[in-house]
Amino acid sequence: MFKNQLVANDIYYVGVNDRNKFKFENSIPLPKGVSYNAYLIMDEKTALVDTVDVAFGDVFIGKIQSQLKGRKLDYLIINHMEPDHSGSIRLIRQYFPEIVIVGNNKTLSMVEGFYGISGNTLEIKDGEKLHLGVHVLQFYLTPMVHWPETMMTFDETDKVLFSGDAFGGFGTLDGAVLDVNMNMNRYWNELARYYANIVGKYGNPVQKALAKLKNLEINVICSTHGPIWTEHVPAVVDYYDRLSRFEGREGVVIVYGSMYGNTELMAETVAQGLSEAGITKVIVHNVATSDASFILRDIFKYRGLIIGSPTYCNELVPDVESLLHKIELRGVRNRAYGHFGSYTWADNSLKRLVGFGEKMKWKTLDISVTEKQGVKADAYNACLELGRQMAELVRIPIIEEPHCV
Ligand code: FEO
Repeated sequence: MFKNQLVANDIYYVGVNDRNKFKFENSIPLPKGVSYNAYLIMDEKTALVDTVDVAFGDVFIGKIQSQLKGRKLDYLIINHMEPDHSGSIRLIRQYFPEIVIVGNNKTLSMVEGFYGISGNTLEIKDGEKLHLGVHVLQFYLTPMVHWPETMMTFDETDKVLFSGDAFGGFGTLDGAVLDVNMNMNRYWNELARYYANIVGKYGNPVQKALAKLKNLEINVICSTHGPIWTEHVPAVVDYYDRLSRFEGREGVVIVYGSMYGNTELMAETVAQGLSEAGITKVIVHNVATSDASFILRDIFKYRGLIIGSPTYCNELVPDVESLLHKIELRGVRNRAYGHFGSYTWADNSLKRLVGFGEKMKWKTLDISVTEKQGVKADAYNACLELGRQMAELVRIPIIEEPHCV
């Protein structure tokens, strides 16, 4: 009954949308849901590339059967074992008991570990090929993008790259599955949020993977989440390259916590200083109202970062402290950094913020503003100056990015 969408010659989209999950990995909000993408190659041999979250097993099996029309399913190729993609492996084996499961040695070990499945598998090594008939698949091991077993599968015949999570983003596919058939505005930002939160810690492995792929002529990228890239292939590869090198664009993220509005007033004033100095991309996040996943996205996107916090129980506001941990975990590099804060009787937030910049080896502004109790004229003017000085550090030639909203 299902009419599957054609992605390239003989290659069909058999993925699903998840509009119900509130938080990805029970941690990252999904205001626009997420898709789990899987693909079916109909050649002399048939091959399924990745599966979907098991909660969607019925629809998934229905889509596959509609395409096979009684034909045998020969191979299941597994690019990534995280259960949002591997969750239906057991179901696939039950419906298609003769299917050969294809993966590298780490994949197959995880197939057994997660699902107790060990027989009828084909272990492939980096660079090996699998002939389906017309389509010839070549496997590229890309460890730690972002799990140890991650790999990509390249269809040499039609130049289609099945990339696993790489180049993927949050957001359901609302009717269309190809980038060329949809309004892409929100997907670029959701790609950046996926990257920053899920893959961001693994910039070096991503760089190694990109180097491995660099001589391939790629017409289509089929990720496991989000749009299928066709006309935007060069742009998305470039964006991934930039994110994984921690190359931020001109712009400044101001993140602050505030209990009674004094630190918040300082944040507003720093933002004004940046604007007066000509910076147009100034993104202000209150940690009490912005989820950390969005803050991290913007920290990955822009070159400047200014953090403010009052002293709270002799430390930082807890949500600011938590954010610092997330930034450190991802090893964010190459940021221009500034800080400000306030206190009532003990000025401890500043010490922590200064130490954090040193630990991250960021270029830190000489100016720092801290205020006791209410914000007075000197601190107010210093916040304006802090913004102006940051503007000088982050000003770089503008590279237009119409897709990055
Ligand atoms: Fe979309 Fe790493 O799973």
